[in-house]
Amino acid sequence: MTEQRLNGAIAVLDFGGQYAHLICRRVRALGVYAELQQHDVSVADLKKKGIAGIILSGGPASVYSVAAPGADQRLFAGEIPVLGICYGYQLLVKAYGGEVERSDRREYGRSSVKILDRNGLFNEVKQGHLTCWMSHTDSPTKLPPSLKVIASSANSPYAAVKSLDGRLYGVQFHPEVSHTEEGQTILGNFVFGVCKARRNWNIEKFMSRTVESLAGLRGRVLCAVSGGVDSSVTAALLHRAIGERLKCVFIDTGLLRAGESDNVKAFLERGLGIDVSFVDASTMFLTALEGVTDSEEKRKVVGRKFAEAFEEFAAVQGPFEYLAQGTLYPDVIESGRSRGPAAVIKTHHNVGGLPKEISMQVVEPVKELYKDEVRELGRLLGLPQKVLLRHPFPGPGLSVRVIGEVTPYKLRIARDASRIVEEVIEEEGLYSDVWQAFAFVGDDKVTGVLGDERRLGYQVTIKVVESIDAMTADWTRLRPEVLDRISTRVTNEVEGVVGVAYSISTKPPATIEPQ
Ligand code: XMP
Repeated sequence: MTEQRLNGAIAVLDFGGQYAHLICRRVRALGVYAELQQHDVSVADLKKKGIAGIILSGGPASVYSVAAPGADQRLFAGEIPVLGICYGYQLLVKAYGGEVERSDRREYGRSSVKILDRNGLFNEVKQGHLTCWMSHTDSPTKLPPSLKVIASSANSPYAAVKSLDGRLYGVQFHPEVSHTEEGQTILGNFVFGVCKARRNWNIEKFMSRTVESLAGLRGRVLCAVSGGVDSSVTAALLHRAIGERLKCVFIDTGLLRAGESDNVKAFLERGLGIDVSFVDASTMFLTALEGVTDSEEKRKVVGRKFAEAFEEFAAVQGPFEYLAQGTLYPDVIESGRSRGPAAVIKTHHNVGGLPKEISMQVVEPVKELYKDEVRELGRLLGLPQKVLLRHPFPGPGLSVRVIGEVTPYKLRIARDASRIVEEVIEEEGLYSDVWQAFAFVGDDKVTGVLGDERRLGYQVTIKVVESIDAMTADWTRLRPEVLDRISTRVTNEVEGVVGVAYSISTKPPATIEPQ
């Protein structure tokens, strides 16, 4: 990041919470540049760079634990406005001599928060009570005299506080998650009202800056495309920046959605005139996955095989100095690559799975962006709406939608059932309302009846979820008729399936992909 861009920006200090990057995203959505910083970054440095305000993320630690990530002591001196969220708020309370305690009851999920003071953080919030998203075990139990309570909930009497001079704020809930009502108004009040930040960030600017910097790459770039949004946008961005020096390759892993190569031919080759080679590597991938049941192992195997496939391709069609990937912010966070102490949930293949010794340098031009930002970028680059609105699909593909060993039989079931789910959702006009819609299969077999005969068959699970950024997700309340259409088609059309279930898990605690 350019030092210059930090002038007037918001620094988000990462205390290891899963939502740290999401806070950045939300601030950027307000049109203000935000960047993640280490939790113990020097406040003097931030001040020198002209930071307008600081937001402290949540985190899994307790402020009193030995391993608690600390912060520069000057943080709470009021030189720069601060908003502490959850753990960050508890640090603020502790710094001023208040008390934070572990409570017996975790407050988790939606909570009704009563607004007590509408100046500052809750300016222009329309309702007296807001539904807010909480996720904490510790909470402040005694406030120091320098902090005043400005909102409360049944379990958190000090759900939000401010300092007497109105420069420091703390909230026990998460204004950054989409499930918190008026979260953006609250963040906007901090960013514009308290920090006096100005709008200085948008995707047009991101695009021109990135095209300019990619144009400076010396040498040829190999970009793997899968038909998905992220790799298509990455390819289009590179194409604009380096034209003929870009070579795209579509590797058929045998783990893809139905019809992907046709899609790539239609919108990248014919649509944007990008040069794409097609390689069938399905045997290599499926052989390598034989006997592998652990999901993280699958990601590693797929990552390794991708690297091999790229290397093989580069040996024939190269040399390539760079390998481009459509890695996004959530991939970086959830694979534990963010510099903070965040827990590793999944090593997404396009981040963690590639072996270090790969001969090409990896470029990830959209790794600062969230999905909706990537879609906006794609629109600016001229990709058709149909591509941009495609549901996300994981890099390790159907291997993480087949629980247990990945066999051609189970793969076919997952692929065909997923295609049917997508078709029905599309026909019902729901495709762009939902984040992902697919089917997964494990080894569960249930008893069925065909004609008069007893027949054991697979049970598939349908998953349709709504989400803004994949950090949290809720299951879609599909009408029974839609579920019925899916179930009937799947059992009629997908050989070997006799049972259909619908997943009603939210994220958290479940993740979106079953593995
Ligand atoms: P989870 O399952 O972690 O998924 O809730 C969040 C989002 O990321 C996608 N996903 C992946 N994407 N490689 C990827 O490129 C992966 O290994 C991977 N695992 C999950 C998932 O489809 C969802 O949109």
